[in-house]
Amino acid sequence: MKKVLIISTSLRNNSNSEILAKSFFDGAKENNDVELISLKNKTINFCKGCLACGKLHKCVIKDDSNEIVEKMANADVIVWATPVYYYSMSGLMKTMIDRANPLYSMDYKFREVYLLATATEDESYTPEGTIKGVQCWIDCFDNVEFKKTLFVGGVTDPSDILNNPKLKEAYEMGLKV
Ligand SMILES: Cc1cc2nc3c(=O)[nH]c(=O)nc-3n(C[C@H](O)[C@H](O)[C@H](O)COP(=O)(O)O)c2cc1C
Repeated sequence: MKKVLIISTSLRNNSNSEILAKSFFDGAKENNDVELISLKNKTINFCKGCLACGKLHKCVIKDDSNEIVEKMANADVIVWATPVYYYSMSGLMKTMIDRANPLYSMDYKFREVYLLATATEDESYTPEGTIKGVQCWIDCFDNVEFKKTLFVGGVTDPSDILNNPKLKEAYEMGLKV
């Protein structure tokens, strides 16, 4: 049994990427200890770049990110769910990644990362920038593997993803986590 943390980073109600994340959650919860956190109602301020986290092993800004960083450190698997914004990850996801800088000097446990992404366009290049951003983040950590990406293009409005066959793929990906 793995400890799996899914972080959903769209601010929309009925978000396509969050619906994708819920399918992954449903598969993963069959055999694992899984938590899905939405950043929608959290306060996650920008990193100020003070680098105090290198010495303190936590962030000096008091908001909801500290609890999430603790959960990231203690998970075996981290799953990011994001809309593609200008060929990259959502601003909220990037802000959370920056605020997770304390992980760098912590005894983090996570070893595997998954990416779930949605977008309007459905071209092979559409998710490339998002994938690259996640890969570059992972490359900063020892012993962490980028396991898989599930990209769903062709979805624009909230809930467009409902009935999309890729939801089953997300479930199966979760089942095999
Ligand atoms: C600010 C912004 C930027 C976007 N940039 C892109 C883009 O670069 N490529 C694309 O195909 N879709 C883009 N979209 C569309 C979203 O990726 C699409 O609606 C997605 O399904 C939203 O996922 P969500 O419902 O989880 O928020 C953008 C939407 C917004 C609001």
